Amino acid sequence: MEAVMDIKIIKTEKSRRPEVSLDNLPFGKVFTDHMLEVHYKDGQWQQPVIKPFQPITILPSNLTLHYGQSIFEGIKAYRTIDGDSYIFRPFDNFHRFNTSAARMMMPPLPEELFIEGMRRLVALDLNWIPQRPDHSLYIRPFMFATDETIGVKPSSTYSFMILLSPTGPYYAKPMRIFVEEKYSRAAPGGIGFAKAAGNYASSLLAFAEAQAKGYDQVLWTDAVEHKYVQEMGTMNVFFVIGNTAITPNLEGSILDGVTRSSVITLLQEQGLTVEERPLHINEIVAAYKAGTLREAFGTGTAATISPIKELAYDGLEMRMDTDKWTVSPEVKRRLDAIREGRSPDIYQWMFPIDA
Ligand code: COI
Repeated sequence: MEAVMDIKIIKTEKSRRPEVSLDNLPFGKVFTDHMLEVHYKDGQWQQPVIKPFQPITILPSNLTLHYGQSIFEGIKAYRTIDGDSYIFRPFDNFHRFNTSAARMMMPPLPEELFIEGMRRLVALDLNWIPQRPDHSLYIRPFMFATDETIGVKPSSTYSFMILLSPTGPYYAKPMRIFVEEKYSRAAPGGIGFAKAAGNYASSLLAFAEAQAKGYDQVLWTDAVEHKYVQEMGTMNVFFVIGNTAITPNLEGSILDGVTRSSVITLLQEQGLTVEERPLHINEIVAAYKAGTLREAFGTGTAATISPIKELAYDGLEMRMDTDKWTVSPEVKRRLDAIREGRSPDIYQWMFPIDA
């Protein structure tokens, strides 16, 4: 056991890494040797510990199990062609994490605990970062209530943890998407902008029904009229119409995606006009019928940039030939080049692990 700064580090006695192949990994099934855990009580965060990946113990009366006071983030670490390792835009995720925490009445994380804890954890499990194209080390910070009571109230104690999971692409192929008009993901005044566990739980039924019809995901529409597109199950969404890329504006029910923000920057660099505004489904249908709908794609940490080859709305199957696309493949190429160290990181998105 060694103490480094204020983080206690307990190393595993035997790494599982030699038994694990990092090729063609499914998303979220394999975890590295270590995890970070820290508890909040008496109004303060306690001593963080990095220790071997292991079960946690909670009582059945744990508040999270009953009322879902739980938030999370998704971040990725990459290794460049020079062999250096970086985390992509962790400060943006840190700020979003605390935005989610405030909405869910949870305590904010100090920046040093979030960033330095993550950096040290990744540094310890560095040999788990895959090197294949479209592979990375997925970082999952999360916080959940730990009071042992079934009274409906904000917890007074919490756990914050970070897990690491080497992963390949979330969606390996272009997606078939169903425009959802029956169920809602988020309503004005709700928790749509927060990365709260419950947002994902409430999406599962719509997702399952779409999957049963042969689709990969749903495209959510607004909760009031079911006409304005919002985001997809695990991603923000972009439509390229003519020389303009349109993505729904962040009006409170949409997640402020870090990949979304990076893609907006790169699209503008590529000479496209980017509009963040309400987007009516009829505008997409009209563009499709007029032949001006060039591309549609999702963006997310897990999903990166995932093309939509088919969009189903009200009996109309809008099909697109993704092989002919130029805009989103170029965005992906440029983003990958920054992440792999083949292009200069002019926006300082890459946070070095050995800082
Ligand atoms: C991410 O893209 O990091 C997500 O959190 C989406 C999903 C895997 C829940």
